[in-house]
Amino acid sequence: MAADDGPAAPAPPSKGAPARPDTPRSAVKTRPPTAVDRPTTTAGAPTLPIAPDHRGLPPFCTESLSADEARAELARLDTTHVKGCEHCELCAKRTQTVFGVGHPRAELVFVGEGPGADEDRQGEPFVGMAGQLLTRMIAAMTLTREQVYICNVVKCRPPGNRTPQETEMEACSPYLWRQLAIIRPKAIVALGRPASQTLLASKAPIGKLRGNWYDFPPPGLSHLEIPPCRLMPTFHPAYLLRSPGEKRKVWEDLQQVMSFLGIELPS
Ligand code: URA
Ligand code: SF4
Repeated sequence: MAADDGPAAPAPPSKGAPARPDTPRSAVKTRPPTAVDRPTTTAGAPTLPIAPDHRGLPPFCTESLSADEARAELARLDTTHVKGCEHCELCAKRTQTVFGVGHPRAELVFVGEGPGADEDRQGEPFVGMAGQLLTRMIAAMTLTREQVYICNVVKCRPPGNRTPQETEMEACSPYLWRQLAIIRPKAIVALGRPASQTLLASKAPIGKLRGNWYDFPPPGLSHLEIPPCRLMPTFHPAYLLRSPGEKRKVWEDLQQVMSFLGIELPS
């Protein structure tokens, strides 16, 4: 790995304060369980195939939670639904599920594709070589892993680090939608093709998607009750390890995110 040719990584402290202050609330309101997970059948709108066996999932969080409340909701989703999940074949070979890590009300969420061997072993996303590069990218933004939230589209390791299949991402994405509904970020960075295509309900190549802002949820996912935010697709750090010449493009994308969040570039 070219550990020293990433985006310049000045030391934090952050100026952007991406995590929101705690505002205590009395009760956690969630929406009644209706058709939020069902495919849209409106003419023209792509259907979102969600496995029917996800009907047992909790309704979407529809309210802005304090950090403590959001932490508790995320933990509940993880413990009650994700840890024992057998909704796709990836459950067979996992050591453990990898739910996500970081600030429960982060303004910025990074979404990767799925755990690798190191993540499967440690139960935390982006801790291997690609993860270390992601951590440096976050540091270059003058942020820390604790200030942002990091997760993946699929929560179980695809054997041999293969790309998750469409059906596996469809089976797992209801967990990601619920994570996002709880966290309510201002911006999402989608890392690589599978995450970008899933979050944008698009088949466009990553080289075409990256570097541009999109509305999330996109029209194809408009039935999801997630507060709107901005989404920036960029290259995956594992790709940057193989193609370090592309790091400049990713740094440009991340600078756009910093600008949107009001984080000053270090001088
Ligand atoms: N690659 C990913 O997409 N996610 C991880 O958690 C690690 C590597
Ligand atoms: Fe369940 Fe997701 Fe793991 Fe598949 S990848 S078994 S849907 S948690």
